[in-house]
Amino acid sequence: MSRTILLPIALLAARVATQTSSSCNPLNSTCPEDPALGFSYNTTYTASTTELNPTLWNVTAGAETILFTETGAEFVISASGESVTAQSTFYIFWGTVEIIMQAAAGQGIISTFNLLSDDLDEIDLEIMGGNDSFVESNWYGWGNTSQYNALYHPTDGPAERLHNYTINWTQKELQWIIDDSVARTVPYAPSGQYPQTPSILKLGIWAGGDSTEPNGTIEWAGGLTDWSKGPFTMTVQSIKVTDGSTNTSSYMYGDKTGDFSSIEATSGESTVYKLINKKSTIVSVAKKFNSLSMGAKIGIACGVVGALLIALIAFVVFCMKSRRRGKRERAISDQQWDENNAELMEYRQKMARGGFAQSHMGHGEKF
Ligand SMILES: *[C@@H]1O[C@H](CO)[C@@H](O)[C@H](O)[C@H]1NC(C)=O
Ligand SMILES: *[C@@H]1O[C@H](CO)[C@@H](O)[C@H](O)[C@H]1NC(C)=O
Ligand SMILES: *[C@@H]1O[C@H](CO)[C@@H](O)[C@H](O)[C@H]1NC(C)=O
Ligand SMILES: *[C@@H]1O[C@H](CO)[C@@H](O)[C@H](O)[C@H]1NC(C)=O
Ligand SMILES: *[C@@H]1O[C@H](CO)[C@@H](O)[C@H](O)[C@H]1NC(C)=O
Ligand SMILES: *[C@@H]1O[C@H](CO)[C@@H](O)[C@H](O)[C@H]1NC(C)=O
Ligand SMILES: *[C@@H]1O[C@H](CO)[C@@H](O)[C@H](O)[C@H]1NC(C)=O
Ligand SMILES: *[C@@H]1O[C@H](CO)[C@@H](O)[C@H](O)[C@H]1NC(C)=O
Ligand SMILES: *[C@@H]1O[C@H](CO)[C@@H](O)[C@H](O)[C@H]1NC(C)=O
Repeated sequence: MSRTILLPIALLAARVATQTSSSCNPLNSTCPEDPALGFSYNTTYTASTTELNPTLWNVTAGAETILFTETGAEFVISASGESVTAQSTFYIFWGTVEIIMQAAAGQGIISTFNLLSDDLDEIDLEIMGGNDSFVESNWYGWGNTSQYNALYHPTDGPAERLHNYTINWTQKELQWIIDDSVARTVPYAPSGQYPQTPSILKLGIWAGGDSTEPNGTIEWAGGLTDWSKGPFTMTVQSIKVTDGSTNTSSYMYGDKTGDFSSIEATSGESTVYKLINKKSTIVSVAKKFNSLSMGAKIGIACGVVGALLIALIAFVVFCMKSRRRGKRERAISDQQWDENNAELMEYRQKMARGGFAQSHMGHGEKF
C-alpha cells in the first residue's frame, strides 16, 4: 500500500487505501489475460486450518502472523510497520463476495477487504478499529482520486462480534449488504464512473493510525494507534466468493475502453477450479477410507499387500526368464549385443538430459 505525502490532506484522506498503479494497465497497454475463478468457492477457517490455501491466496505481508483458532483465521499486527495482506490469485468479473468477520479493535487500526482491477476500478469495505458503530464503504473508477464516494454505515460493534459483509456486484448495480440488510446501492454508470472490470480480492489489516503515516491518513483512520494496547486482531471466519460467470478460465480486455462490454471471457475450467477439485478428490478418498471399519481397512490393506506380493513374484519370474533368454541371445550374437549396448548408453544420456528438464517442470507445477 503506497501512499503519497505530497498531496493536500483532504486528498490524502480520500486516496488512502486506493491502489494507484497496477503492473499493467489495460487502459494504456495490451495486458496478459487474468486467471478467472469461474465458479463459487466457500471456505470456513477453524483451528485445524493450517494456512490460507495458496491455490487461492497470495499472502504478500504478514504470513507469519496469520493464526487459526476455532473462531477463524486471525490476522494479527502488534508493532509499527506491521500489516497482514492476502490477495486472491484469481479474478472475478461481477459476482458476490461474502465475508463473515470481526474487525480488529484499536484506534487507527483498519480491517479491510477490497476488489481491485487492473485498470484500477476498486470496491472497498474499511472498518476503523476505533469506531464501534460505523463501517465505511467506498469505490473508485479507474483509480480516479477526485472521486469521493466514501459513506459510513451504522453497524453494531464491528470489532466486538462477527458480521456478515457481502458485496453484490452486477452490471446493474453494486450493493454492500451488512447482516442481510442492504446498506448501500450504487447504480451502473459508464466505465471510469462505476467498477466494471475483472477484479482480485484483497483482505487484510494495517495501521492507518501509525505515527509514521501522514496526518491525513491518521485522521481518516480515527487517530493515532497506541501499540501498547496491541496486539490487534482481525478475525475472518468464512469467505464465499462467487464469480459472475461459471466455467470460465480467464478474462481479457478486448480494447482500451475499460468498458465491461469489452471484456472477453474464455470458457473452460479455471486453474483454481482444477486444483481445488483435484485436492478434494484426494481428501474424499482419504475420508472414505478413514470412515471404514477396522476389518474393512485390514481387508483392503491385505488386498494391497497381496497384490504387491503377486506382482513381485511375477516380476522375479519374468526377470529370471529374461536373463535366461538374454544369455542365449548373447551367445548367438556378441556383435549385435555391443551395438545395442552403445545405443542404450546414448539413450540413457538423452534421458539424463531430458530428465533434468522434467524434474525442473515438476517443481514449478507443484505450486
Ligand atoms: C497512460 O500512460 C500515460 C503515459 O505513460 C500516463 O501519463 C497515464 O497516467 C496512463 N494512464 C493510465 C490510466 O494509466
Ligand atoms: C460451503 O457452503 C455450504 C452451503 O452453505 C456448506 O454446507 C459448507 O459447509 C461450506 N463449506 C465450507 C468449507 O465452509
Ligand atoms: C504474489 O504477490 C507478489 C506481490 O504482488 C507477486 O510479486 C508474486 O508474483 C505473487 N505470487 C503469485 C504466486 O501470485
Ligand atoms: C464513527 O464514524 C462516524 C461516521 O463517520 C462518525 O460520525 C463518528 O463520530 C465516529 N465515531 C468515532 C468514535 O470515531
Ligand atoms: C474523475 O472523476 C471526476 C468525478 O467523477 C470526474 O469529474 C473526472 O472527469 C474524472 N477524471 C478522469 C480522468 O476520468
Ligand atoms: C445479487 O444481485 C442479483 C441481481 O440483482 C440477485 O439476483 C442476487 O440475489 C443478489 N445476491 C445477493 C446475495 O444479494
Ligand atoms: C450473508 O449475507 C448474504 C446477503 O444477505 C446472504 O446471502 C448470505 O446467506 C449470508 N451468509 C450467512 C452465512 O448468513
Ligand atoms: C501533523 O499533526 C501534528 C499534530 O497535530 C502537527 O504538529 C504536525 O505539524 C502535523 N504535520 C503535518 C505534516 O501537517
Ligand atoms: C466448459 O467449457 C468447455 C470449453 O468451452 C466446454 O467444453 C465444457 O463443456 C464446459 N463445461 C460445462 C460444464 O459447461
